[in-house]
Amino acid sequence: MISQDTIQQILNRIDIVEIVGSFVKLKKRGANYMGLCPFHNEKSPSFTVSGSKEIYKCFGCGKSGNTINFLMEHEKYSYVEALRWLAAKYNVEIEEKEVSPEMRARQQLADSLFIVNNFARDYFVQTLHETEEGQNVGLSYFEERGFTEETVRKFQLGYCLNLRDAFVREAQHKGYNMELLQKTGLVTIRNDQPADNYRGRVIFPIHNQSGKVLGFGARILVKSDRAPKYINSPENDIYVKSKVLYGTYFARHAIDKLDECLLVEGYTDVVSLHQAGIENVVASSGTSLTTDQLRLIKKYTRNLTILYDGDNAGVKAALRGLDMAIEEGLNVKLALIPDNEDPDSYVQKIGVEGFRQFIADNKQDFILFKLQVSLREAGNDTAKKSQLVNEIAETIARIDKVEDFTKQQDYIRQCSQLLKIDEEGMVSLVNKYIRDRLTKQANQEQNRFKNRGQEAPAQEEGPSLAEMYPEYFDENNQPEAVPENLFNKDEKQERELVKVLLRFGDKMFDEEQKTTVADYIFHLPYDFESLAESEVVKKILHEYKTQYDQGAPLDKKWFLYHQDPEISQNVALILEDKEAELSANWRDKFEIKTVYGDDAFVKDTLSATHYLILRKIRKLIEENQQELKTATDFEEIKKCLEMDIQLKQMAKELTDKVGTVIIK
Ligand code: UTP
Ligand code: MN
Repeated sequence: MISQDTIQQILNRIDIVEIVGSFVKLKKRGANYMGLCPFHNEKSPSFTVSGSKEIYKCFGCGKSGNTINFLMEHEKYSYVEALRWLAAKYNVEIEEKEVSPEMRARQQLADSLFIVNNFARDYFVQTLHETEEGQNVGLSYFEERGFTEETVRKFQLGYCLNLRDAFVREAQHKGYNMELLQKTGLVTIRNDQPADNYRGRVIFPIHNQSGKVLGFGARILVKSDRAPKYINSPENDIYVKSKVLYGTYFARHAIDKLDECLLVEGYTDVVSLHQAGIENVVASSGTSLTTDQLRLIKKYTRNLTILYDGDNAGVKAALRGLDMAIEEGLNVKLALIPDNEDPDSYVQKIGVEGFRQFIADNKQDFILFKLQVSLREAGNDTAKKSQLVNEIAETIARIDKVEDFTKQQDYIRQCSQLLKIDEEGMVSLVNKYIRDRLTKQANQEQNRFKNRGQEAPAQEEGPSLAEMYPEYFDENNQPEAVPENLFNKDEKQERELVKVLLRFGDKMFDEEQKTTVADYIFHLPYDFESLAESEVVKKILHEYKTQYDQGAPLDKKWFLYHQDPEISQNVALILEDKEAELSANWRDKFEIKTVYGDDAFVKDTLSATHYLILRKIRKLIEENQQELKTATDFEEIKKCLEMDIQLKQMAKELTDKVGTVIIK
């Protein structure tokens, strides 16, 4: 955890023009800077950067955000990685909060492993190009496979001499630690002597997203039954197989721009397709996809196209990842490469245009593909078929994001056609699975109303409440209804409260009591976080309150650059929103006589809070009146009527305070 103090220091130094400018060529245009958008292909610039507002925005593709968002989007950094990058850039020393000695040790170990891998990569590259054996064996192998020198250089391919310990001796000579060399899998101990693990193999370094070497795949050059085709690095502190996709570093910008990621099985498929000019490709390295890998892809695109050989094993492996992929919200397509080919051999055989055309013609939807395969397997077995219907319905039910509704409808239509069942039936089955899931999640705290429809019995003795408090009853002695239309800008008002906090939270609200605006708001007997209806407002209020409770500085920058993009983006919008100045609205609407002097923020604070409190009271009044309608015994009715009066009195007091009358 980076300390908040450090973060604040970083935020204070951010210069968006400088940062974005180091990735995108920018030209000054008026108050702003313009350039070619790095997130989509364009010929004339529609990407603008505003130094004063500290944001970038592309009018072509709509991407926008602050400096940290830019680094997260462009470099696919996490929030923390972006901060670290900025800290390094601005020479801010990072103060870590609550780092245990173990954590620190692990960090150091990871750093050391990267250093060792870095050395090994350079060594193998050098061996490939500069030794006789490297050239004769390694380089000529790559040439035979059709890899150009440029490609070999780009992917940092290398060669390990076919000698017992040439690498390890060099490494030890350079002072690299034996234990680390073993951890990386570069060296093993044989007959009590260290030996090179990748002897006589060509080397594929495996990079992380920012180009650091996590490990290696080493391919044998001769057909052998005894030795494995590839030796891969063992899992260690930096190489976690399930989290890595080979080629991400080289493919990331292409995936971003084309909004599609191609997935192949092998190292050589990635290299070959790249060389052919298809760069949006990564490899799963022969295993089925994991959730972590899917998330990695999702950082760049939601469109995943799997290019596998037609052979069963590969497809089966890919199929296993399907439900996960759907749940991650990915659109999965599949193109089966013809038998006995893989993308590498196939692109070399038919050329890049032929290959592109092949994908375009053969790309099919994964859900439908799965259904077709299973249908074929089920044959005439009705039990199997009905199980299949259920499985497919459940799969479709997993598409539960609102924005994917149309997609879901499409699937229902197409799958019911394939299954030869009635579409309505499919709809209700899918809905059943959605409902099942929802009921599991939802808490059953609804249905508060009791048996309706009974007339309330007449009162028995003493003056009626209507007689005691005539102002709260109408001519039929019914409780006055709640006035309509006064509270229709709910979300706007909620956002106003956020705005007040962001802008004035640490301002002195009451000089005598020494309370700030935030103190005032958080010490009212109302919890605005739970009063708010907007999820975004709730979230921001929660975050704000957390900061407040920790006594952290309430700097709006902290929220503008918040880790959660929903917070940072909405805070930017809320602070931007000039027309919704509540004080103006409120005064116009209710002709408030101001009794709070000229400190506009005090008025804004009161307006924002009173408004939401009134809204809450109004809701309570409504609920109470509902209850009154269905109440059956006298005590209950009396309680409701008293409550009605009490609530209306509260509302009246509150509105009187700000100089207007809302509840009659
Ligand atoms: P392939 O056999 O298709 O390898 O296995 P390839 O990379 O396409 O190699 P060429 O074209 O035959 O030279 C696909 C992937 O499965 C993993 C590797 O990641 C490989 O790229 N694999 C395969 C292993 O890890 N070990 C093996 O022994 C074989
Ligand atoms: Mn291959």
